[in-house]
Amino acid sequence: MSQPSHARAEELLAAAHQAAEKAYAPFSGFRVGAAILTRSGKVFTGCNVENSSYGLTNCAERTAIFSAVAAGELSAEHELEAVAVVNHEGAICSPCGACRQVIFEFGPEAAVIFRAHSGQMTELAARDLLPEGFRLR
Ligand code: THU
Repeated sequence: MSQPSHARAEELLAAAHQAAEKAYAPFSGFRVGAAILTRSGKVFTGCNVENSSYGLTNCAERTAIFSAVAAGELSAEHELEAVAVVNHEGAICSPCGACRQVIFEFGPEAAVIFRAHSGQMTELAARDLLPEGFRLR
């Protein structure tokens, strides 16, 4: 694990915090924001969106990635450079398994920045967060 200290990480973390303010999380109260950086240098953000039918909840990371895809800015492996994810109060927020798989699809080498279980802000490559991630190609 390495400590994210560079300007890119700071910018993404700030954008993720802003996105967390938009979270729709009336059931868990756990508001999450994510910001992603694409290879083209664009930043997309997302928040978690919960539902009365709990299983339909969409995590912040996937909201951000799906927004970038829908905008035509993320369409292939290695186009995802970095992902920052935060809880709105700065709580530990490690990307869930589903989000790890979605991140891996677009950026096996992407830097993923989050507050780990150790309590430290941490940066890990997507492939280290999800060894042997599923691939069809
Ligand atoms: N959540 C995320 O948005 N990202 C994650 O990687 C972990 C969990 C959200 C889903 C749910 O709305 C809330 O956090 C509590 O699980």
